[in-house]
Amino acid sequence: MFKFIKFMYKIMASLFSFPFLLLSKVTGYVYVSELISLLPFRFGEYVRYEFYRRTLSECGRNVTISFGTILSYPDITIGNNVWIGTFNIFGHVDIGDYTLTAQSCNFLSGADQHGIAETNIPIMKQPGIPKRIRVGPDIWVGANVTVLANIGNGCVIGAGSVVVKDIPDWAIAVGNPARVIRLRK
Ligand SMILES: CC(C)(COP(=O)(O)OP(=O)(O)OC[C@H]1O[C@@H](n2cnc3c(N)ncnc32)[C@H](O)[C@@H]1OP(=O)(O)O)[C@@H](O)C(=O)NCCC(=O)NCCS
Repeated sequence: MFKFIKFMYKIMASLFSFPFLLLSKVTGYVYVSELISLLPFRFGEYVRYEFYRRTLSECGRNVTISFGTILSYPDITIGNNVWIGTFNIFGHVDIGDYTLTAQSCNFLSGADQHGIAETNIPIMKQPGIPKRIRVGPDIWVGANVTVLANIGNGCVIGAGSVVVKDIPDWAIAVGNPARVIRLRK
């Protein structure tokens, strides 16, 4: 009985996600991501999953995108068995299998979204060089982490850290800027 209700719940979420697929073609991807980020309960998680599995470059099985989380671009890729916590924001990112992120993490498209070389042109008008970053697989990113560089396999990033340089495989890194305090193996 419970399995049947869950199945029906998923079917409803799947149907509910269709208008958002159309809307994303009209309004732009990020606006729809913002809108569906506000759907609450398990139902919201199902709707987001249905939307993202149809629109992202790649979105694996058993993926949870929690309330308030925004995926800004359809070129984001997500592996299998991924848990994204509440109020995360993603730029151009490849998210590996078994990635776990806590609440309020920011995954930026590198560190150079704007040029800063010219002083006679406002920074907001100077184009930068957005970069793709790769995080995971098998990582735990603590609460309130900002990520501007790659995170290797099997890493743990301590709460409140700012990742400005690539983190090697199996590292536990903490602080601002994030520094490796030890390796898991
Ligand atoms: C990183 C973490 C996993 C601990 O790893 P650990 O290897 O057991 O580290 P320890 O607790 O032994 O601490 C080692 C050192 O790092 C420091 N440290 C640990 N976590 C830190 C953090 N988040 N920021 C800055 N420094 C930190 C400790 O103060 C200690 O410093 P010291 O050696 O000068 O005393 C943990 O502190 C953490 O941040 N967990 C994330 C929690 C979270 O965000 N949960 C959200 C829900 S999923």
